[in-house]
Amino acid sequence: MDMIDLINKKKYGQKLTNEEISFIIKGYTKGIIPDYQMSSFLMAVYFNGMDATESTSLAMAMRDSGEVLDLKDIKGTKVDKHSTGGVGDKVSLVLAPLVAYLGAKLAKMSGRGLGHTGGTIDKLESIPGFKVELPLNQFKDQVNQIGCAIVGQSGDIAPADKKIYALRDVTATVDSMPLIASSIMSKKLASGADAIVLDVKVGSGAFMKTKEDAMSLSRLMVDIGKQAGKQVTAILTSMEEPLGHKIGNALEVYESIETLEGHGPKDLTEVVSVITGHLLKAAGIVESFEAGYELSKTTLAEGKAVDKFYEFVGAQGGDVAFIKNKKNLLGNTKRHEIVATSSGYLEKVDALNFGIAAMKLGAGRMTKEDKIDLFVGLDLKKKIGDEVKIGEVICILHHQDKGLKDAIELIEKSYVIGSEKRELKLIEETIV
Ligand code: URA
Repeated sequence: MDMIDLINKKKYGQKLTNEEISFIIKGYTKGIIPDYQMSSFLMAVYFNGMDATESTSLAMAMRDSGEVLDLKDIKGTKVDKHSTGGVGDKVSLVLAPLVAYLGAKLAKMSGRGLGHTGGTIDKLESIPGFKVELPLNQFKDQVNQIGCAIVGQSGDIAPADKKIYALRDVTATVDSMPLIASSIMSKKLASGADAIVLDVKVGSGAFMKTKEDAMSLSRLMVDIGKQAGKQVTAILTSMEEPLGHKIGNALEVYESIETLEGHGPKDLTEVVSVITGHLLKAAGIVESFEAGYELSKTTLAEGKAVDKFYEFVGAQGGDVAFIKNKKNLLGNTKRHEIVATSSGYLEKVDALNFGIAAMKLGAGRMTKEDKIDLFVGLDLKKKIGDEVKIGEVICILHHQDKGLKDAIELIEKSYVIGSEKRELKLIEETIV
């Protein structure tokens, strides 16, 4: 096989075989295929696409470039979820102890935040002592014993994706549907779960800005997962406004505990319950999605899973006493209030601006090397559809002076107050 022939094949829009895709990924991972040929190939894929079979071959070849977790020592159906990234997205922190409490097994690898989106691992690190790296045996034992564990993604998972993603970043080939879908799915398939729910965010604060793109990505990822023998469901959830009220690492842990205690925000509770419904059904714990959804809602409302969260934190070395006194998670930050400049109903916000503002305050990173401040962030006092009165506080910035001026500017221009009450559609579609 010759890389030039394969680049030509894709350049003319032809379909590549499994063997050809595997040749490219193996060759590139080993350094036999140089960056300039891979760049040319990626651009050919960008323009001519790949169908579901080719995308599956690509995802599997990238999965097989490194370690594929063997979770068969964990009894029962292993479940996992993945979010394409949003602002204030703390779903995993609530979902992990909740599904574990309800009898499922969740063995999860999560990422760090980059740019305007946060990462579960950074959020967990705002709990003193919490270990985000565990030896594989300990990770599996913990899931067997308490039902859940969340660790950072090991460097050995899908190394081909890491190398290709870095190249895509500098060759303007990130925003290609088959490349995004196979990149995400290669890591999910390597993480060893049997059933996966993909939370595909759509809207200004998300990677996918339109419903059409989010649907195409979802369908392709579900296809890849199914062809790889997994049970996969995708849900399209709105990222027109941040999820919940709090954005920032420790602040999001605070809100997750509130949700597990039974008084969390409506939108967060809803997204968690929809994902839980699908996962419990896939794990055979309930007969139907509806039963799992209702079980999630009542369990959250009754605050029954909060002790499972403390058990999970304790098992990974986190200081449970520290988080039980929730106000510790508010830190010693300074506060700046943003007030409404007119009365009416909150009609629109710019979710992306909230993510960028949190990053400017220090809650997120511009580059992988940046250090973050675990306690800064935003607290949204109003959500879309809420009534607002002139002079009322609509958002509180938790800050340490850094980036404050930029953040205020971004937040002030993010609010649109109108005269009609608007209902935001949170769950846009379910793709199975
Ligand atoms: N997330 C990934 O893991 N890969 C992509 O290509 C895009 C988002």
